[in-house]
Amino acid sequence: MKGMSMTGPGYLFIGEEEAALVQSVLASRQLTRYRSGDSDEVGQSMVFTLEREIEQRMGARHCIAVNSGTSALLAALAALGVGPGDEVIVPGYTFIATIAAVVHRGAVPVLAEIDDSLTLDPDDVIRRITPKTRAIIAVHMLGAPCAMDELRAIADANGLFLIEDVAQACGGSYRGRSLGTIGDAGAFSLNPYKIITAGDGGLLICADDGVYERAFAFHDHGFKPLRQGIAEADSLFGMNLRMPELSGAVALGQLRKIDDILATLRRQRRRLDDAIGDLPGVQRRRPNDEAGDCCSLLVLQLDSVVVAEAVAAQLGTATLINSGRHYYGNMPQLLGRRMPTTSECPFACSAHPTNYYYAPRMLPRTDDVLARSIALSVGVSDAYLGSGFGIGPFSTPDQIASVAEALRMAVAAAAVSQRK
Ligand SMILES: Cc1ncc(COP(=O)(O)O)c(C=O)c1O
Repeated sequence: MKGMSMTGPGYLFIGEEEAALVQSVLASRQLTRYRSGDSDEVGQSMVFTLEREIEQRMGARHCIAVNSGTSALLAALAALGVGPGDEVIVPGYTFIATIAAVVHRGAVPVLAEIDDSLTLDPDDVIRRITPKTRAIIAVHMLGAPCAMDELRAIADANGLFLIEDVAQACGGSYRGRSLGTIGDAGAFSLNPYKIITAGDGGLLICADDGVYERAFAFHDHGFKPLRQGIAEADSLFGMNLRMPELSGAVALGQLRKIDDILATLRRQRRRLDDAIGDLPGVQRRRPNDEAGDCCSLLVLQLDSVVVAEAVAAQLGTATLINSGRHYYGNMPQLLGRRMPTTSECPFACSAHPTNYYYAPRMLPRTDDVLARSIALSVGVSDAYLGSGFGIGPFSTPDQIASVAEALRMAVAAAAVSQRK
């Protein structure tokens, strides 16, 4: 659709609720999660309330609000003790931040194939396990869940941590369980392209009390949870990855409307899907759990790369293999094993040398699937993600019909020109 704004669905739902919460933060003059003055008087912070409401909504034991999805991943890895000498299995299709968090813990990201679901292929994960493997990061790409039963079983059988990157799938589920609660930790992003947003922000959820304590310390200067003292004997170095109060207010307003956002996306995607109907040579992405999909995008897989490229060009979008830093082959820093200094882990690590290398076309199945896939926007409109064409949460039935018609015509034209 022309004029479609380039954001995620949460952004489009920002309204009076968020404004009122932001206003109350300003009126209280309490701009951080830690209150100044008598806490009985000033009440609980937005960030604290957000964390407790996330725990309730997701069925998670602990939540820590942070300043980005990348911070949530980094804190999760640190809290689980992942570092130099470790390998972490990640999919070759994910936003670069998943890989950056591993690298900045000094650990080696080991790439694994995705399958037709566009998420980790469990069989390939098994093939990538070595004595150095410490964790698997399952990324719920484009709003839809990974094969979590299989990945959880693999992690348990091999004594590995399972981390869920839920950046793109906040509110999604797998067999009735909230995404983020099946792994040892779940990391969410609240950036502008996500299901709910705070502009910038992130969330970490986990079940284990020790992981929570270490993640809290990592995100807040080594403090114990909620700054209830500093552990003298085992205090850790921490960073400052805290979520600011104003962001907490926006995120809380968004969380309180997440069910409305998801219901809208699911309704809109069904309409688009029905309007497109069956097309020869076009399949839908294979679901691991249809009911748990956030439905923020509709992914189509075409039979051939040539047809997929012709359709994408006709629609003014790109196939997923050409979607910015979401495909390992588009990550020059990974292919070049580049770090801020020339002698640091994981790539130039004298204590833990590794000969693991990255090369274009090292994941042939991932390359093939992504080169034939096109993602239509249903709410996440992001050219960088390859979803610059499609509909939005508020598109009318007529607008949806015309997007579907444009797609059908593009597929028909590509098929004809291929036959010539
Ligand atoms: C799969 C995935 N992981 C991690 C991130 C990082 O989140 P943030 O931008 O909030 O740091 C993103 C953001 O786009 C993402 O899509």
